[in-house]
Amino acid sequence: MKQIVVSGIRSTGNLHLGNYYGALRNFIQMQNEYECYFFIADYHSLTTHPDPAMLHPNVKSILAEYLAAGLDPEKSAIYIQSDVPEVCELYTLLNMHAYVGELERTVSFKDKIRKQPENVNAGLLTYPVLMAADILQHKANLVPVGKDQLQHLEMTRKYARRFNTIYNTELFPEPDAYKFHGEPIKIPGLDGSGKMGKSEGNCIYLNDEDKVLTKKVMRAVTDQGPTEMNQTKPEVIENLFTLMRVVSAPDVVEHFNNLYNNCEIRYGDMKKQLAADILTVTAPIRERYNEIVKDEDYLRKVAAMGAEKARESSARTLEEVRKAMGFRRF
Ligand code: TRP
Repeated sequence: MKQIVVSGIRSTGNLHLGNYYGALRNFIQMQNEYECYFFIADYHSLTTHPDPAMLHPNVKSILAEYLAAGLDPEKSAIYIQSDVPEVCELYTLLNMHAYVGELERTVSFKDKIRKQPENVNAGLLTYPVLMAADILQHKANLVPVGKDQLQHLEMTRKYARRFNTIYNTELFPEPDAYKFHGEPIKIPGLDGSGKMGKSEGNCIYLNDEDKVLTKKVMRAVTDQGPTEMNQTKPEVIENLFTLMRVVSAPDVVEHFNNLYNNCEIRYGDMKKQLAADILTVTAPIRERYNEIVKDEDYLRKVAAMGAEKARESSARTLEEVRKAMGFRRF
């Protein structure tokens, strides 16, 4: 039997390079080999109370980006999280075995308390439980996620194990992180901060126009340049190299690395090359995106197809879950 893959991206705006290399590119690789469910996490986006007028446009742009980047609705179930309300039932049931203490210790929750102290809602606290429901409803074996999501996945494994133990069943497999080429990737920001993220405001978006993108890269924070041969790179410079290792050919990286080690590097040249290599990846996606996003009929068809496949799989699992927990119909 084929392994089952589930993953999603929160719909809080357009996708950036971090989303692409942390998740989307893996989705595209996996769709040929596995039974895949790829969704757009619009319920999860509500933990930050977005503007209702932006909710649908955000979902729509990500759906178009999924397709533009190469996800194939004939191969994978591509769906919107809220089109599969079954996930809410599983979320409710899993919540009964999720302990407040362990949820409060989640790194992402502690982060949010710091970032939005005025809005520490219960949805934030139980974010990992909804994520577990996303994954477990399809009995996933593999979950492609970026580094920042590994703790959530670990919690999913714990909830699966806990459910199986309590109800003396083997209903849920324990899903593993899918690591494409080794370790999960963390795409750094260009402002010297550790991570590229929407809330950090340091993103390169998949559909940034050439000029905008180039400008962002050229403005990346650097230092005065190396003063000693073969010196250790400070974090801002290491970040540039990390990005380059992701988008550029190995000999290009090697070239600039040698220049750095010989104290001959000109960051302007390196950034120009980096911008060009990012554009090679993003420009074709952006062009397809501009076509697809106009095609409402196609988007509607894709979403309906995905929802149907996902609901069927979720409903099947829920039947078993209800039975294990003791629910019976009259
Ligand atoms: N939490 C993920 C993120 O912020 C999105 C997500 C929600 C997800 N549910 C998921 C990812 C299930 C993988 C599997 O990126």
